[in-house]
Amino acid sequence: MIFLNELKEEKVVYSEPDWEVYLKKYYDTFDRGHDREHAEAVVAFADKLAKKHDPKNRRIIRAAAYLHDIGISKGRENHAQSSMTLILQDPELKKFYTKNELKMVAYAAAEHRSSTGKPKTIMQKIISDADRISAPNPVKRAYLYGVDNLNLQGEEAYDRAGAHIVEKYSKGGKGRRVYFPESEKEFAKKYDKIIKAYKKNDIATIKKLVNESLTEEDYYDILWRNGREREKEVE
Ligand SMILES: [Fe+2]
Ligand SMILES: [Fe+2]
Repeated sequence: MIFLNELKEEKVVYSEPDWEVYLKKYYDTFDRGHDREHAEAVVAFADKLAKKHDPKNRRIIRAAAYLHDIGISKGRENHAQSSMTLILQDPELKKFYTKNELKMVAYAAAEHRSSTGKPKTIMQKIISDADRISAPNPVKRAYLYGVDNLNLQGEEAYDRAGAHIVEKYSKGGKGRRVYFPESEKEFAKKYDKIIKAYKKNDIATIKKLVNESLTEEDYYDILWRNGREREKEVE
């Protein structure tokens, strides 16, 4: 005898692909900026936007969020296009989405990049915003870029991180162009503290915010590099 609640459960479990399979096959093999944490952050934020702005397409938007970066497996350069191709060719996905739905998923993936994408539909804009909001922490990236590539140390490195964030992520800045007010709010949460600190020349706060963005692993990386540099000087 089959109980009704068992049937119900089965329906919930199998109404969409097993995303764990895609996370393992793709995102677990990608770099830190495109790992499963990134994919899951895009899914969460896209769903939040979908609930409000495109509720009837929530299921499709979820799929597009999970799949938007799978094209990285073919190389970074044209990965949005590669994601589209992979989505349209995937036999497993065809079991869960109609041809038309799969096209919508694929096109949203194709337009997700802020640098090259031209999102037109609400769905495409949602994926683009969610990707942007879920990018690896730019505060940390700006700081590490200064340390790694510009050989900055101490205050100079913090100052450079602040300057970069102000230039790129101030209101109206290139990095802050998003489509929905919820995304703008998210950006404000992320950057307005450091922007304010930089404008007041408050290096102590910038330092605190940068340090909060660094993981233990980043710290060891930096220490290791600084040590290596010093060794070179001694030689
Ligand atoms: Fe991407
Ligand atoms: Fe992404």
